[in-house]
Amino acid sequence: MLVVIKESSKQVGQEAARIVANSLRANPKIVLGLATGSTPLGMYEELIALHKSTALDFSHATSFNLDEYLGLAPDNPQSFHYFMHSNFFSQVNFSPDKIHIPDGAFRKDYSAYCDEYERAIKNSGGIDLQILGIGRNGHIGFNEPNSSLASRTRLKELTQETIEDNRRFFPQGAEIPECAITMGIGTILDARRILILATGKSKAAAVAKAIEGPISSSVSASALQLHPDVTFLIDEDAAYALTQRDYYRRVLELTKKYTPEKFQ
Ligand code: GLP
Repeated sequence: MLVVIKESSKQVGQEAARIVANSLRANPKIVLGLATGSTPLGMYEELIALHKSTALDFSHATSFNLDEYLGLAPDNPQSFHYFMHSNFFSQVNFSPDKIHIPDGAFRKDYSAYCDEYERAIKNSGGIDLQILGIGRNGHIGFNEPNSSLASRTRLKELTQETIEDNRRFFPQGAEIPECAITMGIGTILDARRILILATGKSKAAAVAKAIEGPISSSVSASALQLHPDVTFLIDEDAAYALTQRDYYRRVLELTKKYTPEKFQ
């Protein structure tokens, strides 16, 4: 695991965008796994800026989003569909037919729909680079504590903590969805490379458990320890509770010196 500690959340966004842009330039047909939330917003802003200033070309790329709330239509301003379109897709040249976001519609058979989402990921050749945020309870996507580390895309019940954390995105008094469709931890671990972003003190405990704690379904991000190519890109505040910060800095220096290809 590479742990990259930046001074500010702005630098986290810039560095994440640099990694995505380099991966896209190296492989224009890249399959990206994308995340919502306030954390990756800076990355999307930077990618939009790069698209405008350097003609960074998304037209051949494919994307799969991690999750969507159950019961929110794509045109609902609180839906992740809306988030992705307004904060990213509408401002770059992604082909609409290559964008995939789980459909949060109520339906009879969630498993059949989720299997289809899994099949679409497989048929695209699999995710090359998965972007993640992390919840305060250590979740990735909406894989709440106790999610199976082998879970696939499915309907997931949200914890009260997650519902409260996400209340800030909803108008006052609005009902917050109690479930979501989310990629599973097994789905995420199938990605070839994973870039997880975290900023702010409120994420410090979850980040420390994910990186230095035992692998446990209680902290779904700890499952990333099983993956051979994970980069944690975090700011000083989110790194606050890590005990091995100096060592991580050394690892990064030596990685840049001896195996720079690992940190493109
Ligand atoms: C939601 C999303 C996660 C995201 C998390 C943190 O629960 N399902 O993918 O990582 O929020 O969001 P934020 O970046 O706003 O703190």
